[in-house]
Amino acid sequence: MPQRILFAAAECVPLVKTGGLADVAGALPVALRASGLDVRVLLPGYPQVTAALRGARRVAHIDVLGELPPAGLLRAELDTGVPLYVIDCPPLYERPGGPYQDPAGRDWPDNALRFALLGRAAAWLAVHPVDADWRADVLHLNDWHAALGAAYVRFSERPRAPVLFTVHNLAFQGLFDAGWHARLALPTASWSIDGVEFHGKLSLMKAGLHYADAITTGSPTYAREIQSAPLGMGLEGLLAARRDALHGILNGIDTALWDPRRDPLIAANYDADSLAAKAANKRALQSRFALAADAAIPLVAMVSRLTDQKGADLVADFAEALIAAPAQLVVVGNGERALERRVEALAARHGGRIGVYIGFDEALAHLTEAGADMFLMPSRFEPCGLNQMYSQRYGTVPIVGATGGLVDSVVDCTEAALADGTASGFHVRPIDADGLRAAFARALAAYRDADRWRRLQRNGMTKDFGWSRSAAEYARLYAQIARREPPAG
Ligand code: ADP
Ligand code: GLC
Repeated sequence: MPQRILFAAAECVPLVKTGGLADVAGALPVALRASGLDVRVLLPGYPQVTAALRGARRVAHIDVLGELPPAGLLRAELDTGVPLYVIDCPPLYERPGGPYQDPAGRDWPDNALRFALLGRAAAWLAVHPVDADWRADVLHLNDWHAALGAAYVRFSERPRAPVLFTVHNLAFQGLFDAGWHARLALPTASWSIDGVEFHGKLSLMKAGLHYADAITTGSPTYAREIQSAPLGMGLEGLLAARRDALHGILNGIDTALWDPRRDPLIAANYDADSLAAKAANKRALQSRFALAADAAIPLVAMVSRLTDQKGADLVADFAEALIAAPAQLVVVGNGERALERRVEALAARHGGRIGVYIGFDEALAHLTEAGADMFLMPSRFEPCGLNQMYSQRYGTVPIVGATGGLVDSVVDCTEAALADGTASGFHVRPIDADGLRAAFARALAAYRDADRWRRLQRNGMTKDFGWSRSAAEYARLYAQIARREPPAG
């Protein structure tokens, strides 16, 4: 029988997405299934999810636990053919807004319950067979949202399923008031520095880091960076102590969804041998944002959450110098209100040269990747990052912060890297205003040398960013932790 893996996440394309976690949850299980594993996805039943389900069947009932209400478990299927379990619990999930926040952008006050239930349902599926006798052999829990599953498994009766926990972003830790510990029916033994307690709070992230058999994160560099301050964000001690269990596995991208040869969301399809057709996308993007129709001017874009992590403030600070180069700037993003307002003000002041869309728009993200010449991603930290990979596939040369997955997926344009055919972008180092200015100056010089630029584009476009290599590494880890006797305690 193939190994049965339950992949629990708070988001998954195409049903619900706020960031890269959704892309990973949509694509990694497909790659793992292709390698022969029986992977199934578990999601909370937000309205966006339940509304999209066709032919869902109720396959189980999950009992009350502490203040966690009873819930149903629905079985459906994603468009990709991946089996999907959905937690049906209207009191926790059936409401307008996003997965983590209400429509006004405030965290849901009962997020502890909403996501403890995700962990609880995952742990439950490791013990109770459902759906013609399916039970998870391994739990793959993603981010703090699903992490409590590792604690519930650890304190359940044997046999305990092995758990792999993936940290997508250590900046979000799922911290809640101590009172939640008892309300979520966590055993007293777990309330300790060697458990889920973090400076007097309940840390869902710590449940994953402490109780999982193996931990992964989105890139080898980030796996190293989080073992010390500042990127360990207070958890560096625990991460360093668990370094033997901690693995950096670079994410892939969905190369079917992000393929300039076939992408239906862009103005003209192209590949590395027909780069001239990329110009039609640039025209379309300029027209979409009422920028001057100019084929020669470098068009620089950013598609991102507008937050400090992503260096959106650095881009706003730099915008006026950038357009003076001259260049055009397009920003597609949403996030912190103050940053949204800043970039909107820039667009208002510099119509024709700066275009801004505040919001989340998947189709526009594709057109932007296709139409821009350069992609800006001066992240201060980046567990993996997906846009820099999309950019390279689309012949849009990325300018990235020298950190985390950005270092692992973009080769800085040095003379040596150009000579050996690997250069594919520009590293911002240090990640500050000076570093950004210097990296942009180097990119601009390369852009003005058509031959050099073509080589950068082609190097990026011909790289393999597919999931198969990472999927093989995950498969190896699942097998490894399944063989190991889970530790006692
Ligand atoms: P993170 O998950 O930290 O936000 P990633 O680079 O891993 O960063 O993934 C971000 C994903 O979200 C990408 O698929 C990107 O295209 C998408 N994205 C971010 N902001 C927007 C937006 N405003 N509109 C459309 N897609 C967006
Ligand atoms: C997080 C990280 C991002 C990563 C994504 C998927 O959102 O911020 O760097 O690509 O998760 O792992």
